[in-house]
Amino acid sequence: MSIPSFGVGTFRLTGQTVIDSVRNALDVGYRAVDTAQIYGNEAEVGQAIAQSGVQRADLFLTTKIWTDNYAGNKLAPSLRASLEKLRTDYVDLTLIHWPAPGNGVELGETMAALAEAKALGLTRQIGISNFNIALTKEAIAMVGKGEIATNQIELSPYLQNRKLTAFLKEQGITVTSYMTLAYGKVLKDPVLAAIAAKHDATVAQVALAWALQLGYAVIPSSTRRENLASNLLARDLALDADDMARIAALERNGREVDPQGLAPEWD
Ligand SMILES: NC(=O)c1ccc[n+]([C@@H]2O[C@H](COP(=O)([O-])OP(=O)(O)OC[C@H]3O[C@@H](n4cnc5c(N)ncnc54)[C@H](OP(=O)(O)O)[C@@H]3O)[C@@H](O)[C@H]2O)c1
Repeated sequence: MSIPSFGVGTFRLTGQTVIDSVRNALDVGYRAVDTAQIYGNEAEVGQAIAQSGVQRADLFLTTKIWTDNYAGNKLAPSLRASLEKLRTDYVDLTLIHWPAPGNGVELGETMAALAEAKALGLTRQIGISNFNIALTKEAIAMVGKGEIATNQIELSPYLQNRKLTAFLKEQGITVTSYMTLAYGKVLKDPVLAAIAAKHDATVAQVALAWALQLGYAVIPSSTRRENLASNLLARDLALDADDMARIAALERNGREVDPQGLAPEWD
C-alpha cells in the first residue's frame, strides 16, 4: 500500500466546473483524485469518473471526513454516504480533515471509528490532515504505527514545514503537500521563474518538482486542461542541488489556511 505521488485536487470546485476538471484530469493521465465531504462535490466527482470510462481498479480516490461526522456512531455512516455519491464501494484513502480540538469528540473516538471503517472495507487506507507533531503522535498511539498512511498538510516553497516533515519521515508517514502552488501565489516568484527559465519549464512545474523530489505527494488543482496536463509533466523535471537549495531559501512561514477552531497549534 502506498500513496500515489501525483493526484488532482478538487477544493473550491463544484458543479460542471469540477466535472470538467476531473474529466480533463483523467483524460490527460491523472489516476488519483482528492475530494472531501465538505467540498460538496463528491457526487460530481463520482459522475465525472463514471463518464470517463476509467476503471475503478485503476483509480486512487481520497476523501476526508468532516468535523460533524467525528463521533463513533457517525463516521462510518457518513463514509458510506460519500461512497454512494462517489459511485463506488470503497475509497482508497480516508482522512480526518482537521484536528478540530475542542469539538466535543475525543480524538481517540474518531481514530477508532476511522480504523473500524477500514476494517469494514469502506476504505483501503486511513490518514490524517492538518495534524501537528503532538496530534500525529496521539493518532499513532491510538491506531498503531504503520496504520497512518499520510498526513496531508499545507506545504509550498513559502511554507516548508521542516519540523513536521522531518518527524513524519522518521515515522514512515507519507507527506501529502496541499496548496503546493500556495493557490497561485508562488507562481509570481522571481527565483522560481529563473529556475523555470533555466529548465525551459513552467513555474508551477518547478514548485511541484521540488515537492516531488523531497518525497512528498502533490495534488494540485486546476480548472484548465492545459494546466492539468503541464502540471503532470513536473514528474519529468529534474531539479539540481543548486535549484533545490535556492528553493529551500524561499521559506517564509507563508501559511494560507489557518481556520479558527479547526487548526491545531502549528509546529
Ligand atoms: N486537507 C486540507 O485541509 C486541504 C486544504 C486545501 C486544499 N486541499 C487539497 O489540495 C488541493 C490543492 O490545493 P488548491 O487547489 O487549494 O491550490 P493549489 O493547487 O496550490 O493552486 C490551485 C490554483 O493554482 C492555479 N494553477 C494550477 N496550475 C497552474 C498552472 N500550471 N499555471 C497557472 N496557474 C495554475 C489554479 O488556477 P486555474 O484553475 O486557472 O488553473 C488554481 O487557482 C485542493 O484542491 C484540495 O484537494 C486540502
